[in-house]
Amino acid sequence: MNLLELSAGATFVHEVVKHEQRVEALVGDFADALALPLAERREARLAGRFHDIGKLRVPPEIIFKPGALDRNERHVVELHGALGVDIISEAHEELPDGLREAVLYHHERWDGLGYEGVTGTDIPHVARLLSIVDVFDALTADRVYRPAMTEAEALRQMIAQCNGVDAMWFDPCLFRQFIAWRCDASSALTPEQIEELRAYPSADLPP
Ligand SMILES: [Fe+2]
Repeated sequence: MNLLELSAGATFVHEVVKHEQRVEALVGDFADALALPLAERREARLAGRFHDIGKLRVPPEIIFKPGALDRNERHVVELHGALGVDIISEAHEELPDGLREAVLYHHERWDGLGYEGVTGTDIPHVARLLSIVDVFDALTADRVYRPAMTEAEALRQMIAQCNGVDAMWFDPCLFRQFIAWRCDASSALTPEQIEELRAYPSADLPP
């Protein structure tokens, strides 16, 4: 490995850890706002902290491949939830099932088009929470291929991913609660954006 590759690897690890720390804080605050049972709140924070750790076992030639991944490479990337469960299980044998499930299923979609194909209420509750926060953080963070979206832009995009016709990424009830929570808790939204966002859920999300 040359110095350039070493530097790229260090930057990648740093980005994964920063993302996980932000998601840990945000999913924990969301779980608090929902007044979930304390055990579930703890699982949500821990799952946020470790949900992408499996990416560190995806081969560098896939992580750093310039251009699009082929089908097999995409499949390897999609295994990062399962790889993450392996890593945290090696570190600690007696993990709560809820933590393992949240890490394993954090890319599931309500419509069943996620990595593992689990659908609706079969997706563990903490994983449903985590998937919303994970996407929100990914959209509101800088990427090498685009600048960070504003919070309002990210929420609009997520609403578009939940029109119930082409796609339904998130648990509709939890997603409504997430939007309402951001409208209450965020200082990054203007009064006009809050008014707009509060109107979306009833208009665009299926019951
Ligand atoms: Fe992930």
